[in-house]
Amino acid sequence: MSSLASDIRFYDYHPSRADFLGEVLTGLAITPASIPPKFFYDEHGSRLFDAICDTPEYYPTRTEVQLLRNNAVEIADCIGSGCVLIEPGAGSSEKVRLLLTALRPSAYVPMDISRDHLFAAARKLADEYPWLDLHAACMDFTAPLRLPYRPAGVRKVAFFPGSSIGNFEPADAELFLRNLRTLVGGRGGLLIGVDLKKDAAILDVAYNDAAGVTVAFNRNLLTRINRELGGDFAQDRFGHRAFYNGMRGRIEMHLVSRCNQTVHVGGHAFSFAAGDTIHTENSYKYDISQFHTLARRAGFEPVAVWTDPAQLFSVQFFDAI
Ligand code: AVJ
Repeated sequence: MSSLASDIRFYDYHPSRADFLGEVLTGLAITPASIPPKFFYDEHGSRLFDAICDTPEYYPTRTEVQLLRNNAVEIADCIGSGCVLIEPGAGSSEKVRLLLTALRPSAYVPMDISRDHLFAAARKLADEYPWLDLHAACMDFTAPLRLPYRPAGVRKVAFFPGSSIGNFEPADAELFLRNLRTLVGGRGGLLIGVDLKKDAAILDVAYNDAAGVTVAFNRNLLTRINRELGGDFAQDRFGHRAFYNGMRGRIEMHLVSRCNQTVHVGGHAFSFAAGDTIHTENSYKYDISQFHTLARRAGFEPVAVWTDPAQLFSVQFFDAI
């Protein structure tokens, strides 16, 4: 598949168009309407997400990258070399590069819902790290998790950076962590990035960047529905709204109908009054102690936490209990 890559395998369990259609039709039929955030990530959506990470307002990526870079050796000591490193939602596999040299895993298993994005990133990585055994699996990590192959009996460690855990409802986050715990087994570990609770103004700005990249990211969902599911959304008839909901400890992202309108998807009609919303994302924020409680319930014992001086973001390591 790749000219230079010596050992790379691809596995394709991309969700079908029928799954996408089913979830969109169900989500638009309920009130208020909602569509799961995993559908943001078509090829263009994945690129827009990478662009969000480069905006000055979106502090999580920059802060986490610094934490991984500054503490790579300590992190590698916690994990130990020769592990199988599994990354659900790996996207462009940028962050793992900060660890590979210090960590020297025996294999790396990136998983992502965005197939072409994932496979291209894996090829690049294979060229840069020829010693690394690579298994790239296109899959939806909110579905039951499984390894695409049977690695030899080495330590398995899940790497889940970026605070993607925040997309889950807290109860579902616990279930997901429990799935990860099952995946890595009794000798496994978990290295996870968790965005921390903070001043609402910092959060609001991070999800409302001045250049409008987050607006484009949110609206791209409609473009994608139009293209893949035969929808007729008019992008400029939906505005972007993102704000911190302090009661629930989460950022909420919505698309807001700017007028009374009827939209069609896959032959079904959906009416929106001006001001009606489609809820497209939650991004929960945690205190360190809150997250430790959650992780313990899922079978992970806290080992180490790294944070920046402003306590914006945390990288946390756990061993399986
Ligand atoms: C990829 C889920 C961690 O919630 O901050 C960024 C996605 N949405 N800006 C987040 C996102 C809008 C991001 N996660």
